[in-house]
Amino acid sequence: MTPALETVGLQKRFGGLIATNDVSFRLERGARHALIGPNGAGKTTFINLLTGVLAPTAGRIRLEGEDVTGLRPEARVRRGLARTFQINQLFRDLTPLESIGLAVSERLGGGWDWWRIAGSKGAIVDETAAIADRFRLTDVLDARTGTLPYGKQRLLEIALAFACRPRVLLLDEPAAGVPEAERHELLAAIAALPREVSVLLIEHDMDLVFSFADRISVMVDGALFTEGTVDEVANDPRVRAVYLGEGTDA
Ligand SMILES: Nc1ncnc2c1ncn2[C@@H]1O[C@H](COP(=O)(O)OP(=O)(O)O)[C@@H](O)[C@H]1O
Ligand SMILES: [Mg+2]
Repeated sequence: MTPALETVGLQKRFGGLIATNDVSFRLERGARHALIGPNGAGKTTFINLLTGVLAPTAGRIRLEGEDVTGLRPEARVRRGLARTFQINQLFRDLTPLESIGLAVSERLGGGWDWWRIAGSKGAIVDETAAIADRFRLTDVLDARTGTLPYGKQRLLEIALAFACRPRVLLLDEPAAGVPEAERHELLAAIAALPREVSVLLIEHDMDLVFSFADRISVMVDGALFTEGTVDEVANDPRVRAVYLGEGTDA
């Protein structure tokens, strides 16, 4: 079957540095796939190439079999590729109700004028409530985002990506910086993502990687070092050597 997302010979150079080195990668449909690797390995650069924030030096990107290499980020989102949204600067003064409602409205073509889309207001309100419930945000819907506990802010980032109705969801370190007491709720929401959404998770937290993923790819120096099931990668002495040699920044 055509993979949800695929790269062929993907490369990104920053001057003399090859940050992404000939990466051919498949994200299968319905996948729970983690991408791990030491700090500076090129994981975020890879995500930025997938989403269109960066243009590759060489190689192709296909979403459900269609070449999206030249598409702008918004066009990729419309085709079903979403990443967690960085709310930290943008939405601090909005409430989760407002920002989720806005994201749902954007998807329906209404933008900031969501209350003007004739007949769809009820649908937007209903979907907003359902997304808030899924991501444990119902109890804080009317609070200013900037005042929320950090775990709730990270949940809102995933909720906003989810509001785009993605078929492929890219999560770049969703648990980073979340205090221990708030992690359970976040991990449970990620575990409960619907199976029809294919997920690529970048994460340093190995508890999250091992509990969530069924496949793991390891990136080192911009290239795919190895890939396999969770057991295969966890028991691979070469992977341990990479981590012991360079240390994780978890
Ligand atoms: N915009 C950029 N310009 C130059 N070098 C960059 C840029 N972005 C990332 N890099 C370099 O590319 C390498 C990979 O970085 P990054 O993708 O952030 O790694 P990771 O997310 O795995 O920690 C690093 O050596 C980093 O310094
Ligand atoms: Mg990174």
